[in-house]
Amino acid sequence: MSKDYLQGSVLVSPSEEFVETPSIKKIVDRSMSYLHANIPVHLTGPTGTGKSTLAMHLAYKLKQPVMLLFGDEEFGTSDLVGDKMGYRKSKLVDNFIHSVLKTEEDVSHRWVDNRLTTACKEGFTLIYDEFNRSRPEANNALLSVLEEGILTIPPSEEETGYIKVHPNFRIIFTSNPYEYAGVHKTQDALLDRMVSIHLDYFDEVTERAIVATRTGVTSEDAMKIVGILRDFRLMTSSAQAISIRAGIIIGKILKQKGMHIERVNPFVTDICTDALISGRHNNETREKMRRIVIDLIQKHLQDDLVAHLPAYDEQETAHRLEALI
Ligand SMILES: Nc1ncnc2c1ncn2[C@@H]1O[C@H](COP(=O)(O)OP(=O)(O)O)[C@@H](O)[C@H]1O
Ligand SMILES: [Mg+2]
Repeated sequence: MSKDYLQGSVLVSPSEEFVETPSIKKIVDRSMSYLHANIPVHLTGPTGTGKSTLAMHLAYKLKQPVMLLFGDEEFGTSDLVGDKMGYRKSKLVDNFIHSVLKTEEDVSHRWVDNRLTTACKEGFTLIYDEFNRSRPEANNALLSVLEEGILTIPPSEEETGYIKVHPNFRIIFTSNPYEYAGVHKTQDALLDRMVSIHLDYFDEVTERAIVATRTGVTSEDAMKIVGILRDFRLMTSSAQAISIRAGIIIGKILKQKGMHIERVNPFVTDICTDALISGRHNNETREKMRRIVIDLIQKHLQDDLVAHLPAYDEQETAHRLEALI
């Protein structure tokens, strides 16, 4: 196998930062059972629920090289399967008569496999991340791959027009729900050929573990960051989605600055505000949300440190948020 041929495959090594709390382990075990039984796994859920990370972890556990494919609005069948390429044009300059310039064209187009074909031939694991960003018809080639273990390709002199899928070939899909911008409704025929596992925001224990592992902050800081994040998520669920990514950003900056969420510090307030409030709100809404973030920081400070601050009034904050959203 030439190197060129395998271009795009990666060997996934274990991630020391992969957090496997009991709730994640349950999903990993279930997914691995499906994959071992040659059933495609589809991880679906809102952004920031760990779909891509989990897909990579499952791929690592399958111990085969991995092909990564990201769904794309512009994709056509050839982007998955392959295309005729290698159109060669070479220039010949006659050394004796300088005015003679010959152009030689090699018109025998060469078929070049794309990632789906390579993975099917070699028995690799294909991760098709956010596959519903591609238009449904671009994914049609997958139907026979998943159903009959056959990939159809345009027939040519060397190729029969189809290939049999290698027994080690596995596929892991991820997608954001249909209501997300820029995604397409997947054809039922394709959804019917995979098992969909619905992921939601992690439980509190897992969120704390992810923030601590990914950023290196203390478990106490991770607890406070996640406490603030989860309260804010509950209060603003109708206005914006808050994923663990916000918690990771706050943790990273605290760690970098050697700071903690331990006293009212304008810098800490600012990074929490930046990380938690999405870019889609106008200034007025942002300012109101910022006040709520400040209240939540106070709520999650240690009691003795906040004794001198006005008591946090959950009901009052909830009212303010209702008025806001
Ligand atoms: N099991 C996990 N262990 C450690 N970090 C995780 C885990 N799951 C998700 N993360 C982290 O959370 C963030 C969001 O995860 P990601 O897989 O990108 O979500 P999605 O693909 O659903 O948008 C990433 O920064 C990722 O590193
Ligand atoms: Mg992702």
